Amino acid sequence: MPITPVAERTWAAVTPASTYLFGVETGADAGTDVRVVQWYWGPRLPEAALAEAARFPIPRQETGFLDPRDVDELLPVDGGRRWGVPSLQAVYEGGVRSVELSYVEAVTGPGEIELVLRDEAYGLRVGLHVRCAEDTDVVERWVTVANEGAAPVRFGRLDSGSWVLPERPAHRCTGVFGAWGRETQLQRTGLPVGETTFTSRTGTTGHRANPWIMIDAGDATEESGEVWTVALAWSGSWRLTAQHRSEGDVAVTCGSGHDGPHAHLAPGERLRTPSALGLYADGGYGAASRAWHAYTRGHVLPAPDEERPVLYNSWEATGFDVSEAGQLELAARAAGLGAELFVVDDGWFGTRDRDSRGLGDWWPSPGRFPDGLTRLFDGVRALGMVPGLWVEPEMVNPDSDLYRARPDWVLHHPGRRRDTMRNQLVLNFARTDVREWAIGWLDGLVGEYHLAYLKWDMNRSFSQAGWPEAGERADMLWIEHTDGVHAVMDELRRRRPGLRIESCSGGGGRVDLAVLRRTDLVWTSDNTDARDRQTIQHGFSYLYPAGTMSAWVTDSPNPHTRRRVPLRYRFHVAMAGILGIGGNLTAWSAEELAEAAGLVAAYKAIRPVVQHGRLYRLAGTPGLTASAVQYVLDDRVVVLAYNPFTLDGRPPRRLRLAGLDPEAVYEVVTSEAATTAPVGSRWHGRTLTAHGLILPSWLPNGPDYRSELLELRRVGTP
Ligand code: GLA
Repeated sequence: MPITPVAERTWAAVTPASTYLFGVETGADAGTDVRVVQWYWGPRLPEAALAEAARFPIPRQETGFLDPRDVDELLPVDGGRRWGVPSLQAVYEGGVRSVELSYVEAVTGPGEIELVLRDEAYGLRVGLHVRCAEDTDVVERWVTVANEGAAPVRFGRLDSGSWVLPERPAHRCTGVFGAWGRETQLQRTGLPVGETTFTSRTGTTGHRANPWIMIDAGDATEESGEVWTVALAWSGSWRLTAQHRSEGDVAVTCGSGHDGPHAHLAPGERLRTPSALGLYADGGYGAASRAWHAYTRGHVLPAPDEERPVLYNSWEATGFDVSEAGQLELAARAAGLGAELFVVDDGWFGTRDRDSRGLGDWWPSPGRFPDGLTRLFDGVRALGMVPGLWVEPEMVNPDSDLYRARPDWVLHHPGRRRDTMRNQLVLNFARTDVREWAIGWLDGLVGEYHLAYLKWDMNRSFSQAGWPEAGERADMLWIEHTDGVHAVMDELRRRRPGLRIESCSGGGGRVDLAVLRRTDLVWTSDNTDARDRQTIQHGFSYLYPAGTMSAWVTDSPNPHTRRRVPLRYRFHVAMAGILGIGGNLTAWSAEELAEAAGLVAAYKAIRPVVQHGRLYRLAGTPGLTASAVQYVLDDRVVVLAYNPFTLDGRPPRRLRLAGLDPEAVYEVVTSEAATTAPVGSRWHGRTLTAHGLILPSWLPNGPDYRSELLELRRVGTP
């Protein structure tokens, strides 16, 4: 049983490699100021040890200015003698604050438990939920609140839960920051005493940060050490605060919403927060990432076992200049390369020949496609590819039939400007009529054209985010817009089970474990420069599996950076995820097309290993020094090695592999190292991991941008 009762009002979530121990503290004033505390989170304890770990609470200090240890709580409230970061902050009728919870009961189900608490005076029921499964070290937590009182309750903060880090001599945190074109930049720093907040206020997951953190004792490496990590499964605004108190305690609380807007609960209403996920891993950042990947594949993605097709997308080739003839010309070339999915990007609908008009009018452009898209997509199918389309359902240009008809559908405050970004406004998906409209046309479009794929884009942040019709619950749009987007995606998938969806938001602005529950892959970044992409993909890989990471090969010089990178290098970088092609193929030479076709075929051969295998970040600083990523699936081992700049012999020079059976023998099946690791050569797992191989791309004094693909297969034990 993954959730085990341990002692009175004490339970353990027991995962394959970790234990998460929590319970209701039965102190002197536990009746009116209950504390549900985390007793322990770390390596799995023997069953017999569970009770002893929950035996002696650290004594509370209630004199002088010393804080009580509210940092240990699963959901520290704003109330009573607590001065830490609140996870729950309620404002009752008449401006009353200071939540006072008492314990009601524990409700258990298979693999999960709800601890029910209640603020009796105001009728607020609070459920703390903990769930885990047999095959993952991820512990899932969320909170439900129900207003059983007579007046509305507002929430300043309504987090999914707080996670306590065990005492260690030091604490260091790892996360990602970013911007458009520069998503998921890894950042690792000592955790300062104070409150470190990562947040998005944009209404989306955002580019600036991603909702996860890893904390270690300052001693973890890629391959070793303990790592505690927390992620929030949410696609709207969010906030994650790592609190390092002067007493030494460290806790991480996270939830949807940012400072400012208040969630609102009318009498009789209830609300479930998004899930916060906690994971303990011993085995360094690499093990933590692989555990997240396995969890995402096993418990999040709707269709994790499928192989994602090689896509062609016309955006970088044509921009808004979309025509049937132009698309078919590109399609013919894409099919010649081995592409399996052809996606028509922005510019196919309404009056959309530039970014200032047409968004919201989701019918084929009468000027460009007077007979609809059937002929184009029949042509795509005749070339052996399946069709896909770009859509941006949450957006409208003021210059559109939709906006002229429904100006009230956008986020707005009366008497305030409606600021546009990229000439567009945000449709309020908290409204049921907007959701119904969206599901109607999306379903119609997918049905009419038998679409296999939608790229669901979202190209601006919220501003003037009002919802006048909703009155005092207007701020709920910050939650309910995201709920609405999720609900439309869910309903679309229910109606069209064969449809696959890519999540995009001006590049990688909507990458999270909630959107991945209803999409199949994410657009990682609009920056398709291979060298920049290596850095972005490196940060991406900390949480998200390669089988969700959409990566295109585009033109050289790159349209964004003007950097020239050889075709092979561009392919090898994109082959580290879900390969796509986004270049202007009409400008590629016959030699380039032939080389590309060979690389697409090579990708298809390794695709299951890359998309479904275990990922190892082997060495170097991707994009800056020699580096390599490795994937292992069953007996197959694939390595992609890179060297962007000649480094005059600075290490690494030997490539040491990881994740192999040290006793087994591996045979090289694909290699460009004719002398040092030729095809057919056999190596012991131990030699490969402890000593390593010499690869041509890593040798000094060669040209810039060398890369190579190496594949080995386990052939048995000696
Ligand atoms: C966003 C996406 C791009 C492309 C354009 C189309 O920027 O990230 O990939 O789809 O929109 O307008």
